[in-house]
Amino acid sequence: MALDVDALRESFDLVVEREPVVASRFYPILFERYPQVKPLFGRHSGPEQQRMLTDMLAKVIEHLEDPGWLRSELAALGRRHVDYAVTAEMYPWVGECLVATLAEVAGDAWSERYEDAWLAAYGAITEMTLAGYPAQPSSGA
Ligand code: HEM
Repeated sequence: MALDVDALRESFDLVVEREPVVASRFYPILFERYPQVKPLFGRHSGPEQQRMLTDMLAKVIEHLEDPGWLRSELAALGRRHVDYAVTAEMYPWVGECLVATLAEVAGDAWSERYEDAWLAAYGAITEMTLAGYPAQPSSGA
């Protein structure tokens, strides 16, 4: 996984400095752009949910050089998301809103390099999360 680890850490640090609960802006953006996902949420309170997503992002950033950890934690996260009725098509929606959130919080300090680094990282995160989903039944015989 050739991720731009420096850009990811640098941008995450600067975002957390400006907005310690990174995810507090994320949900309003997600629900505004994709209102159809709103009914899936509700097991946890808004602030709890924000804290869990922020903590998970921080842990992923901490473990960027630890593919074993990433693979097992994200596959487990994926298995839980099956129960939350989250489908594969929703992952790009969340990625778009996550990058929009980070860019908004970072403001002038955001750059194309950060944007590219996060898009690539989110792609890798999505792949490892979806690996926790049950295999799709094959369409052939
Ligand atoms: C790969 C990117 C994602 C990450 C890192 C992530 C992270 C998390 C975390 C840490 C939780 C807390 C509960 C748990 O750990 O099981 C959670 C819950 C949840 N996530 Fe995600 N998630 C991702 C993608 C998505 C997508 C694409 C959706 C679709 C809209 C989604 C919808 C939900 C829902 C509905 C819950 C349960 C919330 C509740 O009812 O309180 N997640 N997610």
